[in-house]
Amino acid sequence: MRWWDIAPVLELEHELFPEDAWSAGMFWSELAHARGPQATRRYVVAEAPGTGRLVGYAGLAAAGDLADVQTIAAARDQWGTGLGARLLTELLRAATAFECAEVLLEVRVDNARAQKLYERFGFEPIGFRRGYYQPGNVDALVMRLTMTPENTDNPESSESSESNG
Ligand SMILES: CC(C)(COP(=O)(O)OP(=O)(O)OC[C@H]1O[C@@H](n2cnc3c(N)ncnc32)[C@H](O)[C@@H]1OP(=O)(O)O)[C@@H](O)C(=O)NCCC(=O)NCCS
Repeated sequence: MRWWDIAPVLELEHELFPEDAWSAGMFWSELAHARGPQATRRYVVAEAPGTGRLVGYAGLAAAGDLADVQTIAAARDQWGTGLGARLLTELLRAATAFECAEVLLEVRVDNARAQKLYERFGFEPIGFRRGYYQPGNVDALVMRLTMTPENTDNPESSESSESNG
């Protein structure tokens, strides 16, 4: 993601997170930490082949050996196409490059689709943050992925190797 992506990203942001959309300033601030040798952020966008329309974006923040999924979103007409999985794969690659041992994220307790995606990559629920999403007072489920050589090389490989489903 570069600064010229912020306008189309904000369009999607308002559509997908109507209650608590990030401002342009928040994206600018994140991108300021995404470049150079001291970078602590990795932000990516997905463009539709042919049209170049921006259809997804995601960002990760690293602090020491902990990484946080800051945001991940796919345009509604792309849901279920695996775009979310591709964006998450890119963030986990970045977590590996930042040499993070664990990746954390918060997800609304009522967001089953996102939770399913995270579980497929090996994220496990570790707790709740009560009233994390305002307005609405919706709880966040906190999920954690411990980085291993397996999910680092190919995050989706855990899908076939899991014995307990
Ligand atoms: C979460 C999001 C990024 C997923 O993107 P996506 O492109 O649909 O992701 P994928 O196609 O890779 O996978 C979606 C998963 O949800 C599953 N799914 C499909 N319909 C579903 C439904 N109605 N309810 C629950 N899960 C559903 C899919 O089957 C898939 O899981 P599976 O492959 O194990 O079956 C996207 O839905 C999105 O942008 N949502 C709005 C923003 C958001 O909530 N972001 C997350 C904030 S924490």
